Amino acid sequence: MLLEVAGLDLRYGATHAVKGVSLTVGEGEIVTVLGANGAGKSSLLKAIAGAEKPTGGTIQFNGRDITGRGASQRVRDGLVLVPEGRQIFVSLSVEENLLMGAYTRSGAEVARDAEEIFDRFPNLEARRHAPASVLSGGEQQMLAVGRALLARPKLMMLDEPSLGLSPIVVDQLFDLIAELNAQGLSILLVEQNTQMALEVASRGYVLELGALRAEGTAEELAADASLVEAYLGNAEDAA
Ligand SMILES: Nc1ncnc2c1ncn2[C@@H]1O[C@H](COP(=O)(O)OP(=O)(O)OP(=O)(O)O)[C@@H](O)[C@H]1O
Ligand SMILES: [Mg+2]
Repeated sequence: MLLEVAGLDLRYGATHAVKGVSLTVGEGEIVTVLGANGAGKSSLLKAIAGAEKPTGGTIQFNGRDITGRGASQRVRDGLVLVPEGRQIFVSLSVEENLLMGAYTRSGAEVARDAEEIFDRFPNLEARRHAPASVLSGGEQQMLAVGRALLARPKLMMLDEPSLGLSPIVVDQLFDLIAELNAQGLSILLVEQNTQMALEVASRGYVLELGALRAEGTAEELAADASLVEAYLGNAEDAA
C-alpha cells in the first residue's frame, strides 16, 4: 500500500473530529472519502498531510512510518494536499503561486516542470504574470492542482476540489483527475459530489461525525441508495 492510515484520531479540544479512522490507498489508485459537512474529511486530510497533529493512530507512506514527520518532509516524500478552498494568494501572480508548490525543491528542474504545467494549462500560461485574482474559480482550482504537481507528488490529496464550480468546469476537473491518475499519480479525493467521485474512484469510504460509516468499491457504495440518501445528500444539494 502506498498510504496506510490506521486508527487515526484527531481532537480539537472538546471536538472529536476524527475517530479511529483506518484507510488505505494503493499505488495507482483513486480512493474517495465522502461525507456531509463537518464529517471530519478536511481534518483527516490535514492530519495525513501533517498540518494537524493526530491524537492517536499511525500513518505509513511509501513503506515508512511518517506519523511524526513534519508537513514539509511529507511533501518531500511525495505526499501533497490540495487544500479546501484552493488557498490561492490572489495578490501574487499566477506564476508566483505556481512556484510556491516547489518550496521543498531547488534547481533548474523546477523551472522545467513549471513550463510543463503551463503547457498542460494554457489558461494559466496566458495569465502567467497577472495577479491570480483574475482567474475564474475553475482556473484557480487548476492552479492549486498545478502548484501541487510542482512538488512531484506520488499521492495527491484533493479536498473538495469541485466546490463552487459550474457543472462544465466540474467535468473538466474530473477529466483532469482521471488523466493525472492514468499518468501514474495516486489520488485521495475528498468530495461532497458523491456521484462524480464514485465515477472516477475505484474505492471509497464514508465518514459520519468523524467515524467510518461504510467502505467498499465505488460500485458497492453507489448502489447503496440508503447510504447515499442518509449520509451524503445528492450532488445538487452540495452544489
Ligand atoms: N481548527 C479547528 N478547531 C476546532 N474545531 C474544528 C477545527 N476544524 C474543524 N473543526 C471541527 O471538527 C469537525 C470536523 O470538521 P472538518 O472541517 O474536518 O469537516 P469536513 O468534513 O471537512 O466538513 P466540510 O464538508 O464542511 O468541509 C467539525 O465539527 C468542525 O467544526
Ligand atoms: Mg472540509
